[in-house]
Amino acid sequence: MENSGTIRIGNENFDFPIIEGIEGERALDTRTLRAKSGCITFDEGYGNTGSCLSEISFINGEKGILRHRGYPIEQLAEHSSFLETAYLVIYGQLPTADKLAAFCAEVRNHSSIHTGMRHHFEGFPSNAHPMAILSSMLNSLGAYYPEMSSNNREQDLAHFDESAALLISKVRTIAAMTFRMKQGLPFVFPDHSRRYAENFLHMMFSEPYNDYQDTSGASNALDLFLLLHADHEQNCSTSTVRMVASGGANLFASVSAGVCALWGPSHGGANMAVIKMLEEIHAAGDDGSRFIKDAKEGKAKLMGFGHRVYKNYDPRAKILGKSSERVLEGLGINDPLLDIAKHLERAALEDEYFVKRKLYPNVDFYSGILLKAIGIPVEMFTVMFAIGRMPGWIANWKEIAENSKSRIHRPRQVYTGSAIRDYLKVDER
Ligand code: CMC
Repeated sequence: MENSGTIRIGNENFDFPIIEGIEGERALDTRTLRAKSGCITFDEGYGNTGSCLSEISFINGEKGILRHRGYPIEQLAEHSSFLETAYLVIYGQLPTADKLAAFCAEVRNHSSIHTGMRHHFEGFPSNAHPMAILSSMLNSLGAYYPEMSSNNREQDLAHFDESAALLISKVRTIAAMTFRMKQGLPFVFPDHSRRYAENFLHMMFSEPYNDYQDTSGASNALDLFLLLHADHEQNCSTSTVRMVASGGANLFASVSAGVCALWGPSHGGANMAVIKMLEEIHAAGDDGSRFIKDAKEGKAKLMGFGHRVYKNYDPRAKILGKSSERVLEGLGINDPLLDIAKHLERAALEDEYFVKRKLYPNVDFYSGILLKAIGIPVEMFTVMFAIGRMPGWIANWKEIAENSKSRIHRPRQVYTGSAIRDYLKVDER
């Protein structure tokens, strides 16, 4: 039958239905496999496992396609804004002008942080990593809104619109406060007359008697960066958010876990690692060729290259590559790292090793160059990714919370440790 598949284990056949997504992708529905056969599937890294049905984002990694709620990322990047795309990702529809204005107002009105939270910042050493601070602060934030973080699904959902706007707003304020705290600078209050990205740059860089002014279009470039990170299907941090949410945890706790998952260098932390790599290549007087050789010999990894799903150009990298060039030009910056990155990209795309493995630049390859150009310190890069990804985490939490049939996520394992041992047997020590 076309809509079913068979697994043969030993001499027995087991039939399973095939679920088909709207873009034609097919999944063998093995939910009854263990009950029928006693066997489980083993898929470390989940490369072949669909963990959910989702309506939020679609990726075709072979063709390099990314769409949010059906809209191609290229169209959103050209015509939309971060907050409009955030609304789309969370609520499934592009907002009307009135709805967008109301959403932006809600985000604006939530931009300040309870003064009690300032004391939390004092507890961190100044060399604490901003991602550690961000994750702790987002979880602590929930404690200031117990009615929204009750771990009672109905109640948390009843407050969803407010908690979503609040998190999108306050993640940005917390990020800016983190930077100021680490610099030993006083916190800057949000300015309600500024748009989302510009307000962030204001909270980062304004000084008494020297208000931040965006004269170079930096806030538009930042808005684009955030938009391009808004959601990305079942990546490591989003799966983490869903995993935590599946146990019934509230939105604040779930996104705080997402920040932790994002931190690693194979995931969001790659944007920091790319700049570090480019700086090292530059300092060694290499144009990238030696580094490529090392990567091929397994001595190094070309950060910002490769992706579990994309076996073609990451469409976000294409957009960011072009816009980082434009931003640098607009700012009159001649960053040698951009030339190294472009050379690395060309060399890798022509090299048999990378071609054979279908390794292309991913979103992190050019994003660091763009962030650096607009003055964001490298240590804050992954935090910027987290601000951008917040709508996707929120939308995925909502999908789990609204599904009354969703089960706790609880994978199985294949045990490979010791067989049974006897505590009382001395010779086993
Ligand atoms: N440089 C050199 N070789 C690579 C790279 C790379 N960046 N990425 C993968 N390979 C090789 C890998 O060694 C393996 O080779 P072989 O077949 O000879 O063993 C082959 O390509 C397949 O790689 P894999 O490790 O099976 O791929 P994966 O799907 O498990 O990992 C990845 C995906 C993104 C973690 C990996 O490509 C990587 O570490 N890239 C660098 C870090 C990075 O840029 N991460 C950001 C990802 S995009 C942002 C996000 O969504 O988080």
